Amino acid sequence: SGAHRPRLTFLGTGYLGATYAICFAELGYEVIGFDVDEAKIAKLAGGEVPFHEAGLDELLRKNLASGRLRFSTDYAEVAEFGDVHFICVGTPQRADGMGADLRYVEAAVSGLARHLTRKALIVGKSTVPVGTAEWVEQLVAKHAPSELGVEVAWSPEFLQEGHAVEDVLRPNRIVVGVRSEWAAAMLDAAHEGVVTLAATEDREVPVVVTDFATAELVKVAANAFLATKISFINAMAEVCEAAGGDVTNLARAIGYDPRIGNRFLRAGLGFGGGCLPKDIRAFQARAQELGAGEALRFLHEVDLINQRRRSRVVRLAADMLDRGYGPAGPELAGARVAVLGATFKPDSDDVRDSPALAVAATLGKAGADVRVYDPQGIDNARRALPDVTYEATMADAVRGADLVCVLTEWAEFRTADPAALGELVSGRRVIDGRNCLEAAEWIRAGWQYRGM
Ligand code: UGA
Repeated sequence: SGAHRPRLTFLGTGYLGATYAICFAELGYEVIGFDVDEAKIAKLAGGEVPFHEAGLDELLRKNLASGRLRFSTDYAEVAEFGDVHFICVGTPQRADGMGADLRYVEAAVSGLARHLTRKALIVGKSTVPVGTAEWVEQLVAKHAPSELGVEVAWSPEFLQEGHAVEDVLRPNRIVVGVRSEWAAAMLDAAHEGVVTLAATEDREVPVVVTDFATAELVKVAANAFLATKISFINAMAEVCEAAGGDVTNLARAIGYDPRIGNRFLRAGLGFGGGCLPKDIRAFQARAQELGAGEALRFLHEVDLINQRRRSRVVRLAADMLDRGYGPAGPELAGARVAVLGATFKPDSDDVRDSPALAVAATLGKAGADVRVYDPQGIDNARRALPDVTYEATMADAVRGADLVCVLTEWAEFRTADPAALGELVSGRRVIDGRNCLEAAEWIRAGWQYRGM
C-alpha cells in the first residue's frame, strides 16, 4: 500500500502538528513535519518529542527508522514534496484578550504558497474564527503561481491531550469543508489510512463533508459545548453547596440519561488549557463581529462560572486556615500550603491557562509559602510561574504543610495513602479541588476534608 497515497506535510510541529505527522507516518503515509523553529525540528528529527504525550516517543522513533517520516525547516522542500499540506500552527489569543491571532497561519500559508511548483491542496486544521478559510484562499491566490490551481480546504481536529495518538488514529468523526470534487477526493485519499484502520477493527468513521464556514464552526461549537457542560455542572456544584447537596451524585444521576451522558460532567476547579478558555472567548468575539453576539452571550457566563471555581478554592483555603478575607483577597502570610498538580489536567505537561497554577499564584500572592509538586509539569510551571517553590516529590511538597490542595487529578494523588501523608504535614487539612479523592478514607485518616 502507499503508492497511490498522497504525500502529506504538516506545517507547525507543536502539539497538534507533531502528533498528526507521526501518526500519519504510522498509518503508512510519507510525511514531512515542518516548523520554523530549528531547535524543535532538530529534536524531532533526533527522535525526541518536545512535549509529553503517552506513546508518541516510540511511534516517532519507529517511523523515523521506517524512512516514511522526515522533518524540515525548509518551505521549498515541503512544497516540492507534498500533495496535501496541513496547516497546524498555533492561533493564540490576541493581546486584547478576545480574538484569535492569525499571524502564524499567515506566515505558514504564504511561506508555503510562494514555493509551490505544482497543484496541491492546503488544508487548515488550526482552530480559527469562521471566515479564515476564505481568507486563506485569498492568501494562496496572492502568493502561489495562479496557473497551478492550488486549492484550499478545512478539516478541524478534535484531539485531546493525553490521548492524542488514539484520537488521531481512531477519530470519532472526520469533518471536511471543501469547495470542489478534486479537494474532496484528495482529502478522501489523505484520510484513507484512518478509514481503513477502522474497517480492519470493524468500526466505521463517519465523514461529514460540508462547506468552509460549517467546518470551521464545528470545531468551536464542539469546544463551546464541552466548556458549557463543565460550567453547567460547576454551577450545580455552587447550588449543591448552598443547599447541602452532593454534586458528584447529582452528576451521576443525571448522566444516566443518555441524552445528557455522564462524560465531561466532573465538577471541580473547572476547565483550563490551550483550547477551551481561549476558544470560547474568540468565538464570542467573532460572533460579535458577525452581528450574532447575542447568540453567544451565555458563553460569557460559562467563562465567569469557570473563573469563580478558582476563587472558590482560594476562599476555602482561607476558611480552613482560619484566616481573614479582606477586599484584596485572603491573608495567608506564614501559612505553608502544598499544591499538588500544576498542569491543566493529568497525563499532560501543559500548564497553559492551568487552573491549578492560577490558584497557586493567588495563594502565593496572598503571602502563603506555596510548595508545588506535579508529576510532569514542573519545568513548564517554573517558567510560567517562577515565584513559588517547586518540589521534586509529593512528600517534599506536603512535608510541614498546614493545608494540602489537590488541584489536578493525577493518579499519583488519587491513590496516595492519606495516613502516610498525614504523618508528614503539620495540619491535616485537604482541599480536593477536583473531587477526585476518596473523602471517607481521608476523613478516617484524621483529615479535615473539603471538596468542590
Ligand atoms: C479540548 C477538547 O476536549 C478537544 O476535543 C479539542 O480537540 C481540544 O480541546 C482542542 O481544541 O484542541 P484538551 O484541551 O486537551 O481538549 O482538554 P480536555 O480534556 O477537554 O480538558 C479541558 C479542561 O476541562 C481541563 O482543565 C479539565 O480538567 C477540565 N474538565 C474536563 C473538567 O473540569 N471537568 C470535566 O468533566 C472534564
